[in-house]
Amino acid sequence: MNILLLGSGGREHALAWKLAQSPSCDKLWASPGNPGMEECATCIALDSGDHDAVVAFCGENDIGLVVIGPEVPLVEGLADALRAAGIRAFGPSKAAAQLEGSKAFTKELCERAKIPTAKFIRCTSLEAAWGALKKFDAPFVLKADGLAAGKGVVIAETREDAQEALSEMFDGKFGSAGAEVVIEQFLKGEEASFFALTDGETIVPLASAQDHKRVGDGDEGPNTGGMGAYSPAPVLTDALREQAMREIIEPTVRTMREEGMPYSGVLYAGLMLTKSGPQLIEYNVRFGDPECQVLMMRLESDLVELMLACAEGRLGEIETPKMSGDFALTVVMAAEGYPGTPKKGGSIDLGEAEANGAKVFHAGTKREDGQLVANGGRVLNVTAKGSTATDAQRNAYEAVDAIDFADGFCRRDIGQREVRRERHG
Ligand code: AMP
Ligand code: GLY
Repeated sequence: MNILLLGSGGREHALAWKLAQSPSCDKLWASPGNPGMEECATCIALDSGDHDAVVAFCGENDIGLVVIGPEVPLVEGLADALRAAGIRAFGPSKAAAQLEGSKAFTKELCERAKIPTAKFIRCTSLEAAWGALKKFDAPFVLKADGLAAGKGVVIAETREDAQEALSEMFDGKFGSAGAEVVIEQFLKGEEASFFALTDGETIVPLASAQDHKRVGDGDEGPNTGGMGAYSPAPVLTDALREQAMREIIEPTVRTMREEGMPYSGVLYAGLMLTKSGPQLIEYNVRFGDPECQVLMMRLESDLVELMLACAEGRLGEIETPKMSGDFALTVVMAAEGYPGTPKKGGSIDLGEAEANGAKVFHAGTKREDGQLVANGGRVLNVTAKGSTATDAQRNAYEAVDAIDFADGFCRRDIGQREVRRERHG
């Protein structure tokens, strides 16, 4: 079968790498792809916002499955256009993608389905938002309703800071994403990401992971798209995972189906593990980046088979996904300046980074006259496995240290929380 994968980040390089390992994958196309993906895919430039062009490409190239990596084309309804043309797509419909596309949609769904989540108030004007603030205590959690590339959440320590942030949001700081703002109660606990596959009916747990959102060691500095991740996240114990499936994931998938918006694809739940159990922070309707890189490193099942089963409503008929019992850990190497203005063009030599079984997934790279150079904020995802988090961390940093990328930097403490737990029990 020929497969088309949409996206250009480290997440998509990891998906391409895994898709290409499947015996059912004949030719893999990636759009726009990146230099790393050229090892296993043919990169082409399609505009994923032009649904007719994507459908036409699929017809001309006998594409049997389209894998949509990022959230924007999902929220814009690309999966619907493909399905209407009889082409299988991995990823939810436009209606179901509202789970990521609108914070207010998800909060109201939680209310209807009695899913544990922070108390909230929706506000469509600055006056209403300032009024609603009175009902909460510091720290204040303010969220732009729509997609804001992971930057639409502000946690304000004081009422004054919250008021100022709200003024900026209603002034258009996040464009139309901030036309509505959700204010919610601050939840205390440790965060974990949880990924499940579903065809709308059957749900199978895939894995847990932990991301590192802040740019600096010790979780200091501004938020980023993610500076590193590891999987599994043992804080999400079997008991907590079952509770999250029962109280959060299952009622979500059931309610979406009952309300005529069946969800298919991967459902990524951001969870806060509070004293009273897991609570939903947010949903994403795609794999996490860089969490996907560690998930793919651990996945032992055939990814094409899993994705086809989601797309065709056959998830109940195939074996549940098998994950390696090892830890996988990925370190993001970013270009200097990230998450502000990253320095582009810095040359990269991967050296012997992959010599000991590590895998370097590319994100913002490009080739210039044969030389690999940085071309974005997050540039490389250096990923390794180990039988413990400590081993995986050591293997990943050994690979990082084999790379020559003078204009790059990375956090040196990815996975430290788990390493500390392994050391001290
Ligand atoms: P989100 O984009 O909704 O995942 O939010 C980004 C980050 O803000 C999360 O990963 C949490 O660290 C934090 N956050 C969001 N909502 C809450 C909340 N209700 N309580 C505490 N922290 C939160
Ligand atoms: N790493 C966080 C995300 O993909 O949303």
